[in-house]
Amino acid sequence: MSEIFKGRVAIVGMGYIGLPTAVAIATRGIDVIGVDINPATVAALSRGEAPFVEPDLAVGVSGAVAMGRLSATTEMPEADAFIIAVPTPFNSDKSADLSCVEAAASQIAPMLRPGNIVILESTCPPGTTERIRKWIADLRPDLKTPVDGENRADLFFAHCPERVLPGRIMIEMITNDRVVGGLTPQCAEKAASIYRLFAQGEILLTDAASAEMAKLVENAYRDVNIAFSNEISLISESLHIDVWEVIRLANRHPRVNVLNPGPGVGGHCIPVDPWFIVSAAPELSRLIRTAREVNDHRPHHVAGQVVEKAKRFKSPTVACLGLTFKANVDDIRESPAIEVVSLIAQSMPDLSILVSDPYVSTLPKLLGNFANLHLESAHQAVERADIVVLLVEHEAFKTIKHTRLGGKVVYDTRGAWH
Ligand SMILES: NC(=O)c1ccc[n+]([C@@H]2O[C@H](COP(=O)([O-])OP(=O)(O)OC[C@H]3O[C@@H](n4cnc5c(N)ncnc54)[C@H](O)[C@@H]3O)[C@@H](O)[C@H]2O)c1
Repeated sequence: MSEIFKGRVAIVGMGYIGLPTAVAIATRGIDVIGVDINPATVAALSRGEAPFVEPDLAVGVSGAVAMGRLSATTEMPEADAFIIAVPTPFNSDKSADLSCVEAAASQIAPMLRPGNIVILESTCPPGTTERIRKWIADLRPDLKTPVDGENRADLFFAHCPERVLPGRIMIEMITNDRVVGGLTPQCAEKAASIYRLFAQGEILLTDAASAEMAKLVENAYRDVNIAFSNEISLISESLHIDVWEVIRLANRHPRVNVLNPGPGVGGHCIPVDPWFIVSAAPELSRLIRTAREVNDHRPHHVAGQVVEKAKRFKSPTVACLGLTFKANVDDIRESPAIEVVSLIAQSMPDLSILVSDPYVSTLPKLLGNFANLHLESAHQAVERADIVVLLVEHEAFKTIKHTRLGGKVVYDTRGAWH
């Protein structure tokens, strides 16, 4: 019989990953304490409010808090299990910045008692779970940690990466298969007992480094495939061949699935995580590095194309449709659309640029200082533009009537109007 966890869980980092996990566990009748360094986040949670928007999260938070199962604090509490879900950005040299993970580990260390488990959920380079063990072992020499298969340890350590899709987090957290990697098999089994509380997908037990690497590989896989389609797009453009037609035809092969090209790759996972593989094995990661470079170059290419088109007009107006990093969400983190607009505005200070996005009500910081750039309704922007650039395929843009684009230069970077 598989063990089911009993005890109290502390989750460190109440963001897009930590908070939905807290709700999923608390809803199964387990006491969960959410820990965050941001007092505003803790205050919102203490009122039973979700500090950010994600479908079905608000009702989950208010229910769990009202039932007395979920509470929040800025101080690390005692618990039976500690789950770390803090940010892992990259440094200027693209190596992983583990300062938040290290800070969380050092805050957890004084609270640990024999039998406790520490689970890393943040996306990290291979070997990070082992580094957490070492940091904690240095701070707590009184507690035995599982070194090299040792089975009589006081503490347990595991990595359980997250693969949810923003916008569907509350559903996918429950339904996705779950990779659970322990420093020892006992660690993996103990961590699995927590995920069995709420996960309906299969729980796949493995070692910690394999789990860490599997998560990075998932995002590098997406990045490499997107880079392939972006490169096909570049080549087709130079040969005056319609890339959308090429992909439509190629994808009729039963074993081919070329993704759609676009203006670049955004969000805070796919543009970041492949670099963790590159920095772990720089000499061996030629394809993964090149894919990153191809995708990072895309906004420059798209902006260059727009500038070339604009040069054909005397005093042109350009409508740029879409600012978010993908369609039908309000998330602008690492958005290539914003980079495209900023590059166009820098290259042509006399160009009039009208920007429109149904999910963005004020211009993002990077675009705020250009005098030639204004936020407009899609209707107005298209109406007044000589050149219309589609950067994000929001539903609201897909339904723009072709007749309204008549007589204008149209640059559809997403193939939505094809
Ligand atoms: N968001 C996603 O879709 C997603 C998907 C898979 C994996 N991940 C990974 O999960 C991790 C967390 O991402 P996120 O999107 O939840 O981040 P987030 O920025 O939404 O939330 C992180 C939270 O951690 C808090 N924090 C930082 N340092 C802390 C500390 N020492 N103690 C307590 N709280 C602290 C911050 O205040 C913030 O509220 C990252 O490694 C990310 O790569 C995210």
